[in-house]
Amino acid sequence: MSEWVAKAPANIALIKYMGKKGANLSLNPSFSYSNNNFNSTVSLVSCSGDKDIMDSSGFGSTISSCESYRFLSHLAYVKKYFGFSGYFKVKSCNNFPPSCGLASSASSFAALTMAACKAICELSETGVPSNLAMSQISRLGSGSSCRSFFEPWVVWRDDIVEAVDIPFTNILHYVVVVSSAKKLISSSDAHKRVQSSALFSGRADRATKRLYELLCAMRANDWKLSFDLVWADFWDMHAMFETSSPGFGYMTPGSLFVLDAVRRHWVEFGDGPLVTMDAGPNVHLIFRADQKGLANIFVADMQNKYTVLGG
Ligand code: PMV
Repeated sequence: MSEWVAKAPANIALIKYMGKKGANLSLNPSFSYSNNNFNSTVSLVSCSGDKDIMDSSGFGSTISSCESYRFLSHLAYVKKYFGFSGYFKVKSCNNFPPSCGLASSASSFAALTMAACKAICELSETGVPSNLAMSQISRLGSGSSCRSFFEPWVVWRDDIVEAVDIPFTNILHYVVVVSSAKKLISSSDAHKRVQSSALFSGRADRATKRLYELLCAMRANDWKLSFDLVWADFWDMHAMFETSSPGFGYMTPGSLFVLDAVRRHWVEFGDGPLVTMDAGPNVHLIFRADQKGLANIFVADMQNKYTVLGG
């Protein structure tokens, strides 16, 4: 019995992918940080039945039944892409809790695509596609998963995804979990609903400009300007959520408490973390490696109230 295993990192966007065209192509370029400390592992074993199955035994499966359907549909797509007709038993697990504010679909779809490409190519004795080609296949299952094929800093523009040179290494990435309740509006729905917001027109231009400015700021070691741009971009996305019709949102009093603490920290120390939020209430903090002391103080403070993951 052969088994193919692949592992992929979660990624957190600093310039957000929000709004799509066609086959999960983003309306605007996005920029993210891939973090291997938060990852998903997928294993595929060939099976003799007449369909692919999810196996939740013994591997700490963290996929719900609805996600399982999406997952197996993506596997069916990858098999069709290669003209492969066999079946697999699929196991998937994340090393981070579900609903903790990390997009598990990005890392799990990336790991599934990698494992499926490895398995199918070995069984059909063909070469495994490049990371870019696999990321393009993965994007059709989950848009943001295409960024999990590269690390640490990644730009996704149209169908091109690539690692970019940024002078910050050994980043400390934390997630302040203010709520682990399942979100009511999925990111797939959010992509559709934002189109009704008056702020939607101009979003692609704003994000494109901000991305350019952020890459310049980071390359110039300007952390404060980087903070301002990252802050502006997640508020831009959340403002579109709130001004859609019908409006929706993810901010909770807990999210606002953490955001306010970050802002006060910047004022007090003249320094602080980059901060961002995805389509969820939890808050991501990105500290430079040399901010370890600052990070310890801030995280200890947040831990009085919330669970903080990462570091
Ligand atoms: O890949 P999706 O369809 O789950 O969209 C992800 C969208 C955000 O997480 C909100 C932003 C991003 O760029 O990751």
